[in-house]
Amino acid sequence: EEARKVRAALLRWYDGNQRTLPWRTAARRGGGGGGGGGGNDGSRAYAVWVSEVMLQQTQVSTVVAYYNRWMEKWPTVGHLAAASQEDVNDLWAGLGYYRRARFLLEGAKSIVEVGEFPRSAADLRKVRGIGDYTAGAIASIAFDEVVPVVDGNIIRVISRMKAISSNPKESATMKSIWRLAGQLVDPSRPGDFNQALMELGATLCSRSSPSCSSCPVSGQCLALSLSKKLESAEVTDY
Ligand code: ADE
Repeated sequence: EEARKVRAALLRWYDGNQRTLPWRTAARRGGGGGGGGGGNDGSRAYAVWVSEVMLQQTQVSTVVAYYNRWMEKWPTVGHLAAASQEDVNDLWAGLGYYRRARFLLEGAKSIVEVGEFPRSAADLRKVRGIGDYTAGAIASIAFDEVVPVVDGNIIRVISRMKAISSNPKESATMKSIWRLAGQLVDPSRPGDFNQALMELGATLCSRSSPSCSSCPVSGQCLALSLSKKLESAEVTDY
């Protein structure tokens, strides 16, 4: 059915077009035993957490250098927990929204206190500073939990795909977007699927000039088919 088509097309596109990013390498290093950074010790989760928090208000191209410096300085959540807020802020300088840096340090301290990195979205949400988005991103990307994520890009992609014109600032709209994202997420590759949606929103499905002719899910996009039928409808209105 429809969700299956979206998953297959989006994952195929992502496999051929995803950027090579340092936290993706870290996130994939797990699995086959022996290698450093893998396994279930939470190091993949830590890498995804740091990158997702940095990416919340900052472009990928800027984040990469900050992320690499951060990981060199604090390679594990234990190293971070022992850092001072001053050192963390120094490294953060230029990224803005220092609240994010504070939450990372506080979160690291509480994770170290508890003794292990929380593995489910529900448990991750209990960490101070980790909200629905970050919990879903860590759980799906690092732990393969079949949970959705919704950020600004995904709101736009899903609103277009389903031709939702109600205001995402209203909680009812957000609720239905989270529900739709939850129905859509690929059960076998949730982390890749979520990142594919983000990446689609950041690239082809842009706010003001979407590249529908190159879009892997244009055949499943209600806003596009409506805009072809009705001259009053525009794919760019989302
Ligand atoms: N923006 C936020 N998180 C991202 C991710 N994991 N991949 C690509 N873009 C992102």
